Amino acid sequence: MRLIHRVAELRAALADAEDTAFVPTMGNLHRGHVALVEQARQAGRPVVASIFVNPLQFGAGEDFERYPRTLAADCEKLAATGADIVFAPDLAEMYPEPQTYQVVPPLADELCGAQRPGHFQGVATVVLKLFNMVRPRYAAFGKKDYQQLFILKGLVRQFNLPIEVLAGETIRDEDGLALSSRNGYLSPAERAEAPRLYATLRAVAAELAAGRRDLAAIEAEAAAELGRHGWAVDYVSVRSQATLLPPQPGETALVALAAARLGSTRLIDNVEVGLNPV
Ligand code: PAJ
Repeated sequence: MRLIHRVAELRAALADAEDTAFVPTMGNLHRGHVALVEQARQAGRPVVASIFVNPLQFGAGEDFERYPRTLAADCEKLAATGADIVFAPDLAEMYPEPQTYQVVPPLADELCGAQRPGHFQGVATVVLKLFNMVRPRYAAFGKKDYQQLFILKGLVRQFNLPIEVLAGETIRDEDGLALSSRNGYLSPAERAEAPRLYATLRAVAAELAAGRRDLAAIEAEAAAELGRHGWAVDYVSVRSQATLLPPQPGETALVALAAARLGSTRLIDNVEVGLNPV
């Protein structure tokens, strides 16, 4: 496995590659990332994983500075998983002045985007740049970041990028908590509370499966349940899998999404719900 920092060196290493499978990350890798690398490896070769903590997708006052940077340990995990290249670009080469941004659709201002203005623009910009650097045939993203996956699929479709997007299932700890680099910020008491986010979304899914359709009430009850246990809720929302907008009457492929904070740590999760047509 090679660790590459410069774009020119990456280009040279991939000059003859036709089936490159790519996994973009911000590092501090856990089993969720590893599963994506394994999925990518099933799809194509060589397998490239990038590690870049992207300042463009962090807002003022967010955790860009304290985001964990663990390159050596990440490289060990990637080597053990069968990655061929780790691409860790440096900031100056990534973002020459003046900065230019990828425009994103209005959905980028909803859900997570409502509390994080500019976040998905920053994600779309860096991922488009990484795509242009790596020129992959396949790119793997996790369903844990459901809105991100949706927006990036849209980017690929809208700009006719010759890339097949692979969606990885959310990898969880035994108690249900979705793995996240941000889980490391949780105190022991917060870590014990954290699985409630997934449990609450599962309860929402169960209500929907049982036939309830009063979405606003279901969302408000779920948010109140989290609030009673000390969470500051950004949103709980039931959306259409097809559009990520509020579902139309009769839509059956839904997804319940939530973002909420425990102390200073913001966690997100989601549960897909397939309803039997009525
Ligand atoms: P990062 O948070 O490092 O996540 C990298 C990839 O791993 C994303 O596709 C994310 O959805 C996936 N992932 C994270 N936790 C997961 C889990 N528990 N199960 C399955 N997949 C999981 O997402 C980003 O980085 C950045 O926004 C990036 C796309 C790299 C752009 O900077």
